[in-house]
Amino acid sequence: MFKNFFASITHNAISLIGTALALAALVLIASLFTMEQFGFEGGPYLGILTYLILPMIFAVGLVLIPIGAVLYRRKIRRTSGGADTPVLPVFDLNIPKTRRWMFIFLGATMFNIIILASATYKGVEVMESVEFCGLACHSVMEPEHTAHSRSPHSRVACADCHIGPGADWFVKSKLDGAWQLVSVALDLYPRPVPTPLHDLRPARDTCEQCHWPTKHVGDKLRVIKHFEEDEANTELTTALLLRVGGASGSDSSGIHWHVDPNMAIRYRSDDTREEIYEVEYTNADGELTHYADRKAPEEGGVWRTMDCVDCHNRPSHIYQSAANEVDRIINEGLVDRSLPFVKREGLRIIDAQYPSHEEARAVISEELQKFYAENYPEVAAEKSDAVEAAGIALGDAYAVNVFPGMNVWWDTYPDHIGHEQSPGCERCHTKKMRTADRKQITNDCDTCHVLLAEGEENPHILSVLNSE
Ligand code: HEC
Ligand code: HEC
Ligand code: HEC
Ligand code: HEC
Ligand code: HEC
Repeated sequence: MFKNFFASITHNAISLIGTALALAALVLIASLFTMEQFGFEGGPYLGILTYLILPMIFAVGLVLIPIGAVLYRRKIRRTSGGADTPVLPVFDLNIPKTRRWMFIFLGATMFNIIILASATYKGVEVMESVEFCGLACHSVMEPEHTAHSRSPHSRVACADCHIGPGADWFVKSKLDGAWQLVSVALDLYPRPVPTPLHDLRPARDTCEQCHWPTKHVGDKLRVIKHFEEDEANTELTTALLLRVGGASGSDSSGIHWHVDPNMAIRYRSDDTREEIYEVEYTNADGELTHYADRKAPEEGGVWRTMDCVDCHNRPSHIYQSAANEVDRIINEGLVDRSLPFVKREGLRIIDAQYPSHEEARAVISEELQKFYAENYPEVAAEKSDAVEAAGIALGDAYAVNVFPGMNVWWDTYPDHIGHEQSPGCERCHTKKMRTADRKQITNDCDTCHVLLAEGEENPHILSVLNSE
């Protein structure tokens, strides 16, 4: 009876291997888990090992045990030539010893279920973590991971925007995810990862977990510093009062008017969403206004309902243009502004395609030093530290925006906020987008912002604001 069963799982290699695997995995899970409880930080891979890989081995071990037992009994039946050994073990619950074994067996099964259930729970948590998304597919997601870690959303998990709550999208994204892992393993994925993401979950279910579409932001002051490409790297200031607006009462105004839940804007565009063909605006009373670009193709393209992501397409993966990046590092003091022509030369040197980050850093530093050695030998001698630091800062700026391994260059991923890096708002707010009776979607500057200063040296408005 039970001895039979016990024999069938201890006398065959498959069951023994299964038991060994399950036991080894269990001991490892328990010790890694204990280490984690004592504050040992093993990095993201430890979580992946403890809660994904080891539990898988554990489960495989458990499955092997009965498989081995059944195969073993079959063999016994065949060799003993008799039908007296049934395929499956026979349990006689009238025998006290069998009953005792039965309880032990049930207890062990419960224990296994608890282990697997908690591992699954923690495993899901690990798969949702930024580290897993970013590192498990290290080379593929390196651009997104790097940009994300520098963004205002660096503490928001990838999954909060890409999956959101609820089982249906979870399953969908995990199925997609499984395919993505295969394509990473077999090196099938496209470089760069194409944008936009056509199956991104609607912003209602992701962004709006944390942001209210009806929040009134009002006017927002933005002060932007640029540096001219002259010898003195003249500082130019632009100050904008952005009319972000939003809902107030039953009305909404300004830029966030587009996401008023009482109305809807739909548009038809090409696959990249850079070229918009026609726009349909339905107001709160259900009246429809139709705008179209008369030169656009009449058929084809994709229809989409506008949401947060049509403007905020880079809330987390923010890549700057080369010029803005040089402005930033000068403004932050990482590059010494007293170096003659450092804006012009810095921009010339980084706005290029280098085969790797290492090569970029080396060539950028070398080129900058060469420029000063040839044109300003006295600067090269007296400020050699500043020139060296500038070379390093330019290399760093390159490495967080450009990813040669993934074919991500300065202009690969357009930003739709504004109209500098890409047409952005001007995809719709243009003379071309008109109704049948020639009414245009406005492109009047003041609709969106009040320009307090535009590329000025020491604008008066800043002294007013600073004196408050
Ligand atoms: C604040 C929300 C948010 C977070 C957090 C976030 N993403 Fe994204 N992600 C987006 C949006 C929005 C897009 C682009 C939407 C579009 O234009 O289709 C995007 C696009 C992408 C793309 C496509 C390429 C591109 O840049 O357009 C990849 C790959 C990606 N995300 C991976 C990640 C990874 C990995 C993480 C975590 C390290 C992450 N995302 C975190 C919102 C987010
Ligand atoms: C899990 C919560 C969460 C989710 C989901 C989320 N955000 Fe945010 N978002 C934040 C927090 C927190 C901040 C404030 C960060 C700060 O002040 O530094 C923020 C800031 C922002 C900002 C202001 C950035 C700036 O430059 O100051 C924008 C724009 C924004 N989010 C858009 C989005 C969009 C679009 C989505 C959906 C694709 C989204 N967020 C999803 C939490 C979230
Ligand atoms: C028509 C384009 C557009 C749409 C649609 C849009 N936004 Fe914005 N949003 C903007 C602009 C422009 C700004 C100001 C940009 C800046 O600060 O540089 C802004 C600013 C913000 C800010 C920062 C506000 C602050 O107090 O600093 C948040 C947060 C934000 N948006 C979230 C959202 C969310 C969530 C949605 C969707 C419900 C959304 N936006 C839809 C254009 C848009
Ligand atoms: C449909 C709305 C809209 C219209 C129309 C518009 N802008 Fe803008 N503009 C923006 C937004 C949004 C930004 C981005 C602010 C930011 O970077 O957060 C911007 C940024 C700018 C900047 C700063 C760019 C920089 O980085 O230095 C200037 C200058 C500017 N606009 C000038 C104009 C002028 C001049 C007009 C009229 C011919 C105009 N804009 C029309 C929405 C608009
Ligand atoms: C998909 C098309 C589309 C895009 C992209 C778009 N808009 Fe609009 N926007 C519209 C339409 C349609 C209207 C309504 C025009 C009308 O009433 O005549 C509008 C109206 C506005 C208004 C006036 C709101 C009011 O109070 O009546 C502002 C401000 C505005 N947009 C700013 C922006 C900014 C800033 C961006 C870029 C960040 C942007 N829009 C991108 C379609 C778009």
